[in-house]
Amino acid sequence: MSKQDVNIGRRRFLTATTSVVGGAGVAAALVPFVTYMTPSARARAAGAPIEVDISKLEPGKKMTVEWRKKPVWIVRRTEQNLADLPTLNAALTDPQSEVPQQPEYIKGEVRAIKPEYMVMVGLCTHLGCSPTYKPEMGAASDMGNEWKGGFFCPCHGSRFDLSGRVYTDVPAPTNLVVPPHKYLSDNVIMIGVDQEGEAS
Ligand code: FES
Repeated sequence: MSKQDVNIGRRRFLTATTSVVGGAGVAAALVPFVTYMTPSARARAAGAPIEVDISKLEPGKKMTVEWRKKPVWIVRRTEQNLADLPTLNAALTDPQSEVPQQPEYIKGEVRAIKPEYMVMVGLCTHLGCSPTYKPEMGAASDMGNEWKGGFFCPCHGSRFDLSGRVYTDVPAPTNLVVPPHKYLSDNVIMIGVDQEGEAS
């Protein structure tokens, strides 16, 4: 559901609620609320898995979706991005993803089911700000000549690479979280369900 859809839905809900309150009192206002939410809307509000269409995501770009009220990023990495990952290991706190910040099937430097697509929760592991995507590299970036693309947290300066791996000299203690997810097809990811099919 797009933000526009959500906003339209909220407007409809507010309109319905306002008219009922005006006519029949507060108790009656609960009725349209209950009937307004479809079973799938109630499930989403409770944190049910979401399906994400990644067919329009271009190499080097990031898209953001919401799952359990958190931003989840999907970054489509280039061949160059993937080749750069091992070269960063010495500068990272947990380069092989040994701290459990990801499901069992997410391992090592790549931290993805399909290397091209990196899926991660877009919240800094220091105090929860949302870092900024910095895909430019080297001299083209404002992150220094050694920068190979990644994320910069504006709150206290933590840096993460394109696998969400944290650098050593920053306040964030661990890599970004990888949510449970699986592929329903080449172009659709389901977030909130493990590869084995169990909701987490
Ligand atoms: S919240 Fe990101 S560095 Fe502090």
